[in-house]
Amino acid sequence: MSKKGFIFDLDGVIVDTAKYHFLAWQRLAKTIGVDFSEVQNEQLKGVSRVRSLEKILAWGDKTLSKTEFERLMNLKNEDYLSHVNDMEDSEILPDVTKTLDFLIEKNQAIALGSASKNATPILEKVHLLDKFEVIVDGNDVSKAKPDPEVFLIGANLLKLKPEDCIVFEDSVAGVQAANTANMISIGIGEDDVLHEADYIFKDFTEMSQEFLEGLISGDKTKQITKNLPINN
Ligand code: BG6
Ligand code: MG
Repeated sequence: MSKKGFIFDLDGVIVDTAKYHFLAWQRLAKTIGVDFSEVQNEQLKGVSRVRSLEKILAWGDKTLSKTEFERLMNLKNEDYLSHVNDMEDSEILPDVTKTLDFLIEKNQAIALGSASKNATPILEKVHLLDKFEVIVDGNDVSKAKPDPEVFLIGANLLKLKPEDCIVFEDSVAGVQAANTANMISIGIGEDDVLHEADYIFKDFTEMSQEFLEGLISGDKTKQITKNLPINN
């Protein structure tokens, strides 16, 4: 059986932390008189901490000094980490552990490809760190998703070609990054948001072992034409 690289995003794919990022950003934005919706929040998913604050400021037509910008980013992170500190293994999203174990049993290469600078402590917290051969996170990249850098570094460390890698992502920026990297993109979430992905599933409970085996064997490839019925 062939060896493929399976690259997992963290927030919103492995653990349910996307909601904590939203809560923390929303609370912070309110303190500077900016409000934003859950629809706008989709644009913050997968996006670095710096870029997220830049977007929020643009929505509220605000500008800040460099010092104030740094202070607010730190405040958001402290608030976010207060949620993370209380996290338990039960916050691993459904069937993620089962999927990781299935791929490991099939001798597949597993990497993390996340924009977060908090990735390693979060994986430690939910006892999943040892499932990953390679970790690429916000501390390793200079260009944020949708730039493909994070996934290309992951493929390189796994010693696999990008076209032999499969990315699981819950964000539009992450799906675009995977597509630009020439990897198979699997959206985890809603069809109407993630329609640029090659395949879309609501969560890992919807993904069959046959589908995963198809990815490993190469039967499931990149869909050439988008907007076809979802092929799962
Ligand atoms: C991504 C999240 O995984 O990481 C974004 O989807 C977040 O919402 C980004 O802004 C950076 O995370 P952190 O933990 O470094 O602030
Ligand atoms: Mg994510």
